[in-house]
Amino acid sequence: MIEFYNVSADIDGRNILRDISFRIVQGEFAYITGPSGAGKSTVLRLIYMDLIPNEGMVIIDKYSSAKIKNKEIPILRRRLGVIFQDFKLLPDRNVYDNVAFALRVTGVKGAAVKRKVLRVLAEVNLGHKRNRFPVELSGGEQQRVAIARAIVNNPFIVLADEPSGNLDEQASFEILNILEKINRQGTAVLMATHDNTILKRYPHRVIKIKEGLLNK
Ligand SMILES: Nc1ncnc2c1ncn2[C@@H]1O[C@H](COP(=O)(O)OP(=O)(O)O)[C@@H](O)[C@H]1O
Ligand SMILES: [Mg+2]
Repeated sequence: MIEFYNVSADIDGRNILRDISFRIVQGEFAYITGPSGAGKSTVLRLIYMDLIPNEGMVIIDKYSSAKIKNKEIPILRRRLGVIFQDFKLLPDRNVYDNVAFALRVTGVKGAAVKRKVLRVLAEVNLGHKRNRFPVELSGGEQQRVAIARAIVNNPFIVLADEPSGNLDEQASFEILNILEKINRQGTAVLMATHDNTILKRYPHRVIKIKEGLLNK
């Protein structure tokens, strides 16, 4: 489902990742850990093909980094749900429209939009805040909107780049509870974090990166 074969990646001519190989299987929950600057976000960028390896190959679903065409990358990304430390919500749209937007760009129309948006907002316990704007929400609530938006297209995996990095402990635990619930429903989760409290409290497979190499 996700396979890295001896992947090396450079950014602006500087080598960031070297000879990385691992795979994530269907329905798995795994962490990518390592100190700041280790290359965690770069691994996630390789998965959503914001970056193409200099050497080796990344296989995501039926797409290979060696063969994918530029016009296929948005189609691949619809199969992935991505969330970030800074939420990246649209500030001028309410909660409902932030989620509906992600659905409409994939061509979903009419009553199906409302049904799907309300279903995922219920999943993240935010149905009652559907008319609020991001600025009216706590950080934890904003991240839950981002999760709803990430899962509304039924991705096979959620990629989470330090999703609790801006949140207090209570809000972080809520995010992890939701990610675990999504995972129990069959969606794989790959989460970059360096938060040891989370790793201990929510134990899952750990993929360690240090200075661009998998730490075995
Ligand atoms: N857009 C970029 N331009 C230049 N260097 C970058 C860029 N993105 C990441 N890097 C460098 O790549 C290395 C790994 O970064 P990153 O993957 O963001 O690490 P992490 O997410 O583990 O903190 C760091 O040394 C960082 O400075
Ligand atoms: Mg990072």
